[in-house]
Amino acid sequence: MIEIAPSVLAADPLHVHRDVSRLVAAGAQVLHLDIMDGHFVPNLSFGPQMVSALRRDFPEMTLDVHLMLSSPGRFFKDFANAGADEITLHCEADGDIPAMLEAIRRLGKKAGISLKPATKVTEVLPYIEACDLFLIMTVEPGFGGQQLMPGMLDKLGELRRAGFDGTLSVDGGVGRNNCRHVVEKGATRLVMGTAAFHSADPKALFEGCGAR
Ligand code: DX5
Ligand code: ZN
Repeated sequence: MIEIAPSVLAADPLHVHRDVSRLVAAGAQVLHLDIMDGHFVPNLSFGPQMVSALRRDFPEMTLDVHLMLSSPGRFFKDFANAGADEITLHCEADGDIPAMLEAIRRLGKKAGISLKPATKVTEVLPYIEACDLFLIMTVEPGFGGQQLMPGMLDKLGELRRAGFDGTLSVDGGVGRNNCRHVVEKGATRLVMGTAAFHSADPKALFEGCGAR
């Protein structure tokens, strides 16, 4: 099953409920929430309050929180308490990654690991048993609206061949022109910011990507 995960960073900040509702109606199953600290990535976004507001208004949606934080250990509990279903941290972040993944699972949430473009799959193989999701960055994290880096998609097959059988999510520059290729390369979840929120017909876009 291919899941569509609109990245709420691309919503109109003064009309988040309107913009998200439109994509939920179009068939999105997951909401992707990019949390940025201005240090791990050169941008700032939003905090746990956004998660709890979306949890209140969209109780049926899976909330997929992407922590682009240098110190995720300081914050992941806040996002769990705010209503996140899945919490993904970067393998390049500070802290005891295996311990944080275990703690996220102990909180009853799914745990994920994200890899920046420069990070090789070999660096995350030790975490395969400890997480439920890998988030493959196909852009340098920090901003929406960038071009997808196709060479990153080979990481999907590497993870499957290494025995990972959970969610493989691709994040950055996914849209109409490349989403079927991204799925063919092994993605089971498509994060879409600009393409989804700027689409004139998101239902057709999602169906065209193979979402069901
Ligand atoms: C980038 C974020 C992505 C981004 C996706 O740091 O992790 O989730 O918002 O936006 P698009 O689809 O426009 O690249
Ligand atoms: Zn993201």
